[in-house]
Amino acid sequence: MYSASAPGKIILFGEHAVVYGRPAIAVPVHDLRAQAVITRLDDAEPNSILIEASDIQISARIEDLGEEDLLRQSVQLILDTLEVNTFPSFELRISSEIPIASGLGSSAAVNVAMLRALALFFERELSLEFQSKLTYQIERLYHGTPSGIDNTVVTYEKPIFFRRGEDPQVIEPGDSMTFLIADTGIASPTGEVVSGVRERWMEEESYYEALFDQISELSLLAKRAISAGHIPVLGPLMNQNQVLLKALGVSSPEIESLVRSAQETGAFGAKLSGAGQGGNVIALIEPSLVGAVTRALQDAGAKHVFRTSASP
Ligand code: PMV
Repeated sequence: MYSASAPGKIILFGEHAVVYGRPAIAVPVHDLRAQAVITRLDDAEPNSILIEASDIQISARIEDLGEEDLLRQSVQLILDTLEVNTFPSFELRISSEIPIASGLGSSAAVNVAMLRALALFFERELSLEFQSKLTYQIERLYHGTPSGIDNTVVTYEKPIFFRRGEDPQVIEPGDSMTFLIADTGIASPTGEVVSGVRERWMEEESYYEALFDQISELSLLAKRAISAGHIPVLGPLMNQNQVLLKALGVSSPEIESLVRSAQETGAFGAKLSGAGQGGNVIALIEPSLVGAVTRALQDAGAKHVFRTSASP
């Protein structure tokens, strides 16, 4: 058996602005992971792949999935890139604890886990940079114009300061950060939300550029605060980022109500994370407030609340 995994992620600052060349900060969520397990099938004909992905009700030979199937295309892209032409048959089992279409990087995590398991099976050592770049190519199949932040943080598994076209910078937090991740329960496909922002940006470019510039300032300030361990300072920056995300048109009443409940219960700050219009809200809190803020988020309609942290 060849087994590999990759974490989910939250975006702390800069989603959407990052698509337009501004910096953003993301943190891996080690407690929620995607896993891929490969088992060799000695009895089957060579070159056949059996895919088992029970989370998305797939149990089929890869050639029976149809040419448009994204999982099939992803596996094919990996095999082509690794220049694998003939191979012993295998079963590829994929599972994930990361909710789909909720801003937690589930597609990037599944693809990185799959790539890592295939690399083990084919005895290839792939650098993190290579894994991230190949996962970016796969992510493009899923949502057209990804910025590249998801594949980067999910591959490096460290807090990342990311700007399109530049090498990612790992941020070493000067102190621990405790987050609650609260699910609105509303699935929100990233591609659709990103396209909506693009349409609005095309109509009012200078207004949207000004919003992206302000978000950029917050990401720069936040990077310094995280490295210095000045965690409470991040709270107001998150709240300001949320105001700007609302102005971009990617918030929703459900998100606003979760953000408000966390803020009113003593969180340092809260905002949506990922594409928005659904998905998840993140709250940065003092660890002693986990119980109180979790209850407040549940009372405000959160379907699930997870705790996670990023430590030095
Ligand atoms: O919804 P997610 O987790 O895929 O995050 C999307 C982040 C965006 O900035 C909205 C898009 C991107 O490609 O960076």
